[in-house]
Amino acid sequence: MIGLFDGLFDGLARPLLRTLDPEDAHALTLKMLKLAPLLATVRGDKRLAVRAFSLNFPNPVGMAAGFDKNAEVPDALLRLGFGFVEVGTITPKPQRGNPRPRVFRLDTDCGVINRLGFNSEGADVILPRHAARAAAGGIVGINIGANRDAPDRAADYVALIERFASVASYVTVNVSSPNTPGLRDLQHAAALDDLLARVIDAREHAAEKAGPVPLLLKIAPDLSLGELDDIVGIARSRRVDGMIVGNTTVSRPPNLRDAALVREAGGLSGRPLFALSTRMLAETYVRVEGVFPLIGTGGIDSGAAAIAKLRAGASLVQLYSALVFRGLGLLAEIKAALIGALERDNLENLGDLVGADAAAVTAEPWPQ
Ligand SMILES: Cc1cc2nc3c(=O)[nH]c(=O)nc-3n(C[C@H](O)[C@H](O)[C@H](O)COP(=O)(O)O)c2cc1C
Repeated sequence: MIGLFDGLFDGLARPLLRTLDPEDAHALTLKMLKLAPLLATVRGDKRLAVRAFSLNFPNPVGMAAGFDKNAEVPDALLRLGFGFVEVGTITPKPQRGNPRPRVFRLDTDCGVINRLGFNSEGADVILPRHAARAAAGGIVGINIGANRDAPDRAADYVALIERFASVASYVTVNVSSPNTPGLRDLQHAAALDDLLARVIDAREHAAEKAGPVPLLLKIAPDLSLGELDDIVGIARSRRVDGMIVGNTTVSRPPNLRDAALVREAGGLSGRPLFALSTRMLAETYVRVEGVFPLIGTGGIDSGAAAIAKLRAGASLVQLYSALVFRGLGLLAEIKAALIGALERDNLENLGDLVGADAAAVTAEPWPQ
């Protein structure tokens, strides 16, 4: 979708990409990223290292799911300085997703609405591609979902864990995409408990050969606090390794200005999602009570926004939409801001920031 190459191709690519349909621009960006082996690896800073889910992240800034749905460019993204990459959502069988147009840029609001609907090349194509790069190292998580027509959706998640456990750094169980009808019902207590029981069981089974792969749960920001109570309780009792908060929102904040596009169906991401997703992150953090770490996702478009996510309870962050508007320079800016925060407060590591503001955030009026 994306003028991701800002700062690399110096404004050459970005104006071109912005004239294209968002999905064509995204396809072109993926093609350009395949050239990234020609680019030098961005040097890391040891002070940004984070340990979570028994994994050592070189820095806490990840590429969110949806950018590289078919695991085509994870190594290019790692080389460009992301601390980790989440590929997918992958479905067991290939499927095309919803008809185009299905991605919309809200230029004035710096937001994106998408209703892609899990377009995926499917496990048979993606597994060998991903397995071929597994030895290259780096943290590449796999985000999994169910086919739209699956008769037993939980069985799709189980099948994908069985197949990908040995080659994934972690697996994210995505029950929060708004674009597959009924998928988010898997967040309801009884369905979620059954799903997590089955995926954890599949993970334990796979662990006999592959070792235990960390299992994360990605939730929607559109949950009541009562629903969140249930979800966190089940995630804790089923012993997931972490949660991602969260996916795109089906809500439309009243102050959106791109009036022509706000009525498009789908999930909203980017800057207009920041307040809601950060509130849900803090609400999740206070319920999890440190039992497992959280990844904060939604509307991160500056160093300050990334620091706010950490302070609301995230040990790691992921971003996607802001790269459309800011380009890759944003990644370097966020990492510099994190270093700045450590130096300013004389902190040993980023863990000292995590959750510092969670209680305060939950006491604020509910974001509009
Ligand atoms: C075009 C697009 C496609 C996405 N596809 C997926 C997906 O396949 N699976 C998923 O879990 N999240 C998907 N997401 C959600 C992102 O991973 C992320 O949770 C959300 O966009 C909030 O982060 P952001 O505001 O930085 O974009 C997608 C987002 C966008 C914009």
